[in-house]
Amino acid sequence: MTYKEYITKCKKCKSCRLRKSATQVVPGDGNPKAEIMFIGEAPGASEDKEGIPFCGAAGKFLEEMLASIDLKRENVFITNIVKCRPPGNRDPQDDEIKACKPWTNELIKIIRPKVFILLGRFAMAKFFPSFKISQVHGKAYKKWDRVFVVMYHPAVALYNGSFREVMLADMKILREILDGKQDSINVLDIPKSDIKTRLEKRREEKRKENSQIGILS
Ligand code: URA
Repeated sequence: MTYKEYITKCKKCKSCRLRKSATQVVPGDGNPKAEIMFIGEAPGASEDKEGIPFCGAAGKFLEEMLASIDLKRENVFITNIVKCRPPGNRDPQDDEIKACKPWTNELIKIIRPKVFILLGRFAMAKFFPSFKISQVHGKAYKKWDRVFVVMYHPAVALYNGSFREVMLADMKILREILDGKQDSINVLDIPKSDIKTRLEKRREEKRKENSQIGILS
């Protein structure tokens, strides 16, 4: 599917209840050839009206965060875990997140970003369900050959000013990664050679077990 086809199809989605109360689907915005993808939570009132993610107050702060490391919206791609506004900006529910998952996965296949910035706990949970955001914000992780940076959601800074500095400081890790500094990346991938060794070990154990109970292996 091309990016254009994706946008047309996604805009027609009716797979969950959110579409009934939302004005429109908000698939994503930015450069479809970008190497960096920001994933937020869900469209708010401004996004629902304009059809563009992060175009309201939280978006203004996101743009400030980008500018702090010399990036612009045009350099990145921005989307959300759910692509329709939850009524009254409530948290997205599990079944709504599940219904929207194929859209996010397809978008990732089309854009093929190398670096993901996970804004808030819902985006973090898609890739790292056991993580606690207070422990991992501002850190980078390598998994499946892609780099993930976990950040607080920009809206947090609107409600609690002390988070502004934390988030601007957390952005610096993205600049380091873009500048090729790999030292601060926590590698979660199991190297392929390790997988092979583990498989061989398990096969050997199975062979021993089977020979003990008289099965030919
Ligand atoms: N908050 C989000 O998570 N996404 C938006 O698009 C706007 C606000």
